[in-house]
Amino acid sequence: MTATLLNGKQIAQEIRAEIAEQVRRRVQAGKSQPKLCAILVGDDPASQVYVRNKERACEKAGIAGTVDRLPATTTGTELLARIEQLNHDPTVHGILVQLPLPKSESSADPLDERRVLDAVSPLKDVDAFSPVNVGLLMQGRPRFLPCTPHGVVQLLHRCDRGVAGKHVVVIGRSDIVGKPIASMLSQRTNMANQGDAEGGRDVANATVTIAHSRTENLADLVRQADCVIAAVGIPKLVTADMIRPGATVVDVGINRVDDKLVGDVDFEGVKEVAGAITPVPGGVGPLTIAMLLHNTVKAAELADG
Ligand code: GUN
Repeated sequence: MTATLLNGKQIAQEIRAEIAEQVRRRVQAGKSQPKLCAILVGDDPASQVYVRNKERACEKAGIAGTVDRLPATTTGTELLARIEQLNHDPTVHGILVQLPLPKSESSADPLDERRVLDAVSPLKDVDAFSPVNVGLLMQGRPRFLPCTPHGVVQLLHRCDRGVAGKHVVVIGRSDIVGKPIASMLSQRTNMANQGDAEGGRDVANATVTIAHSRTENLADLVRQADCVIAAVGIPKLVTADMIRPGATVVDVGINRVDDKLVGDVDFEGVKEVAGAITPVPGGVGPLTIAMLLHNTVKAAELADG
């Protein structure tokens, strides 16, 4: 192996310890304890695990975490009413609707994902999925940063893998990962400095290309990259022959293949060529929850200082 391993698990632990300390100081100063409310509709097993992990992480950081578990038969009107209640509850700082929503059983009153996400107050939108928060990020004045892209930025920042002036190829154009990462890395200012991180490299000012499942000559394009970010959901799409020697490779993919978690990068081959690489699991995944905690504390600060 020639590549340096980018240990997301360890960095997530560092960030979570920083957040726990921030919460402790906040409460000691007489301010409110940050509170996150997650809404889980239906009984998707993977979503149940994700929500439980978020609940545990809140607890460890001293954040109050509650989960509203609603049946798969919940109608769109019922879910929107619950969100509206939480929007107006001053004790709740952050609201998160776990995705995917179940396929609606009520064709007259369906669970429409877009409408549901639009209904979350932008001041409590700790996922940063609302159009207002997406717009603020695009304009370079973010309120909340989306959790997985922010995790990638923190990882690069804290591992000294700067991208200023470099060519980054992002594979994947999702609203949750690909598009916001491309936006963050091409901005003028380092978004990682919004948190507590000091120093680190300039994780901004990159020249970014967004590739996707329909890109022609993907291998030729990726070979030109100083940094590759794979977030397309195709197991082991990125292979060693596509990597420029010494490049940084970040794997955001989490694919279940034969009951094993596999990334979008062929780790075994690519680690012999890349300069640095994230593993799956233990790479970007743990950072997503850490940045959710960060946003929840930020939401509490927005609410009452
Ligand atoms: N489902 C998969 N990833 C996410 C996420 O980041 N936020 C929410 N709310 N649901 C998800």
